[in-house]
Amino acid sequence: MATGPQADGAASWPPFESLTAVEQTIWRRRSIRRFTEELVSPEVVERLLMAGMAAPSASNRRPWEFVVIDDVELLDKLQHRLVLGRYRPPLAIVVCGNLKRAYPPPGRDFWMQDCSAAAQNILLAATGLGLGSVWIGIHPVGLFVRAVSQLLGLPRGIVPLGALYIGHPAETRPPRTQHDATRVHHNGY
Ligand SMILES: Cc1cc2nc3c(=O)[nH]c(=O)nc-3n(C[C@H](O)[C@H](O)[C@H](O)COP(=O)(O)O)c2cc1C
Repeated sequence: MATGPQADGAASWPPFESLTAVEQTIWRRRSIRRFTEELVSPEVVERLLMAGMAAPSASNRRPWEFVVIDDVELLDKLQHRLVLGRYRPPLAIVVCGNLKRAYPPPGRDFWMQDCSAAAQNILLAATGLGLGSVWIGIHPVGLFVRAVSQLLGLPRGIVPLGALYIGHPAETRPPRTQHDATRVHHNGY
């Protein structure tokens, strides 16, 4: 495993092959923005959602809801509303927070962490299934939140956190960590 920090703050990375399967999947998850036209099967979509809903959440409130989009016209409209997400996936999963299910004040904003954990689980599961994926941020950019809420007909109290674009990859990116020992503090800052 890692042999400790080097003078420049970077740790020497262990050989990729020595990592556990989970670690390898974490390192292999990279943002993929080019997809083939091959569709993602409903069975695979279900597995992705199961991975998402295996995430931890504050007080196990599970404040997440997911809008699965595979309609070509709707996907087109979605990417036009997300100026930083103008890629063409065959599938998008919009991860939303249901504020009524969220942890009560003062912990209400835990919903963002809960939904982010679910989103990351989906990205990792997609990687493990050989799919490419990228997270397109929505919340807290008001313009994006309003545009996506209107497009998907989200009721009040359902807030879109991010759109996960998923599909069969048409590009490859190398596995890596971005480990930086200068970001780590022991027993206090
Ligand atoms: C909250 C969040 C929002 C993001 N929004 C976008 C986005 O709008 N467009 C995009 O191309 N990538 C987006 N990304 C992906 C990041 O650009 C990407 O994770 C980062 O460059 C690191 O690369 P990697 O995912 O390959 O490790 C977002 C990622 C996160 C976590």
